[in-house]
Amino acid sequence: MTEKITPIREKMLANIRIQRFTPGDDRSSYFDNFKVQVETGMTVLEVLRHIKNTQDSTLTFRAFCRSAICGSCTVRVNANSVLACSTQLLPIIKDFGKASVTITPMANLPVIRDLVVDIDPVIEKLAKMHPYLMENRERIPETLEQESLMSKKELKQFDSLTDCILCGACFSACSTVKVDETYAGPLTIAKAYRFSIDPRDSFRGMRIQASMDQGLWSCVQCRKCLKVCPKDIRPADSIRQMRRIAIDDGIHDTAGSRRAKAYTDDVEKFGQVNKPMLPVVVNGTKGWTAIEAGEAALEKHGLAPTRQVCTLPGQEGAAKIYAKVREIEKKEKAREQQ
Ligand code: SF4
Ligand code: SF4
Ligand code: FES
Repeated sequence: MTEKITPIREKMLANIRIQRFTPGDDRSSYFDNFKVQVETGMTVLEVLRHIKNTQDSTLTFRAFCRSAICGSCTVRVNANSVLACSTQLLPIIKDFGKASVTITPMANLPVIRDLVVDIDPVIEKLAKMHPYLMENRERIPETLEQESLMSKKELKQFDSLTDCILCGACFSACSTVKVDETYAGPLTIAKAYRFSIDPRDSFRGMRIQASMDQGLWSCVQCRKCLKVCPKDIRPADSIRQMRRIAIDDGIHDTAGSRRAKAYTDDVEKFGQVNKPMLPVVVNGTKGWTAIEAGEAALEKHGLAPTRQVCTLPGQEGAAKIYAKVREIEKKEKAREQQ
């Protein structure tokens, strides 16, 4: 006889601390506390709806599909950006070991009311990336009856990126957007990359330029965007790939591409990065000011500055790895051109 398994249902009285903001109100943002019996399986969105239905009907938040598809319900729970409709609250309460959680709106965007933010700044940045296919005449058939086919290998390059639901969790978590509001943000560059490597598209050059104009090289690769993405899209990896295709397409004259080249050349040559000279390699003659300031600071503390970098033991191994990688890349390129 099959044994019937009864799921364990737990309950916990929790304090839900929610950031509030009412436009036109004298107060800037403030926090309200609500007591809620949180049960196994209850999502953040269910808790918010429960509070709205039973305790404060003025509480404002955004949600539509309740199925992790529309991307509208992103909030921060204990400072982590999450989809409210697909995130259960009880495990978070248990992880933090405290019967209290704080819910705040997404970061890096202006708040309209309570947990609702204005997403126009993201949409404006995204629009500059031309996030749609611009017809590649060589791949689009002449008649409507024919399909535009692509190989499995071509599809694999961007397939997972098509799962992005534009929820903005990555934008909310991004360290660079936090300090530089002109930076495009992870989701916009990931979208630009997705269309740029689609063989049916012909606008790659324009998107690379648009990405560079909006800070392609400003991403610090902290990978926070990657940790919060509910669809496992890995925007930080797409940003690295976008930089790679920019260099492959011959765009070498940017501070970022010069830095990337200096890193690889130095590690191959010395087994480490030649940091003392990096500012000049990256920024040209302007870099001398940074070098001189650094040297003056070292001298002030009785340390002798150096512009020489020593060759580390193991450099030969690094050089061999580089030679092997270049050989593999060459073979792959030749195969692609066949
Ligand atoms: S990349 Fe992920 S986190 Fe960013 S908008 Fe798309 S689905 Fe959301
Ligand atoms: S890896 Fe880059 S894009 Fe992603 S969160 Fe960090 S700085 Fe932002
Ligand atoms: S309500 Fe649509 S993704 Fe959460």
